[in-house]
Amino acid sequence: MVDSLVVSGHTKKEKYESLIPQIKALMEGEKDSIANLSNILAALKYSMDYFWIGIYFVKPKGPEAVVKTGTKDTQLVLGLFQGPVACTRIDFGKGVCGKCWELKKTIIVEDVENFPGHIACSALTKSEIVLPAFCKDGNVLFVLDVDSVNLADFDETDQSYLEKIIQIILESIDMEVFSK
Ligand code: SME
Repeated sequence: MVDSLVVSGHTKKEKYESLIPQIKALMEGEKDSIANLSNILAALKYSMDYFWIGIYFVKPKGPEAVVKTGTKDTQLVLGLFQGPVACTRIDFGKGVCGKCWELKKTIIVEDVENFPGHIACSALTKSEIVLPAFCKDGNVLFVLDVDSVNLADFDETDQSYLEKIIQIILESIDMEVFSK
């Protein structure tokens, strides 16, 4: 049983390098998707000192909706997260998360005040990074949103390591569990 993680290093790069093997170790011998994803998000939040980290899944708006990703039939819906309560649903193209889904690209926002249409789930958030994760068919499966209380807290180093962590999630966790 792992009680706590030991993340060494002073730079972001050193911290991520130290954290990634521990994230993999946390999942060893455990197949439960919710348990593993929850632990990854908690490990990231508390090791990297993020204000908020969470996943928004692309989901049908209603049970009757025909699922066509990136259309009015689908929305981003809040999944597992660590941090204060957050907005539950985000439309295609709206906010940083919806724009990331639309563009299928990582978005780094140095100052949320300067991002037109930014959705302020918390007034404390000053900067954020949102990364897309893709299904095998190339559509967006979910976006990973990380928020900070400091301006310009995210850069290409975060992007590169968070992309690695998304790959670990996609390779190790059965994400179908979250798609209903
Ligand atoms: N700020 C995001 C909304 C999600 S919360 O920050 C958790 C956005 O503009 O899409």
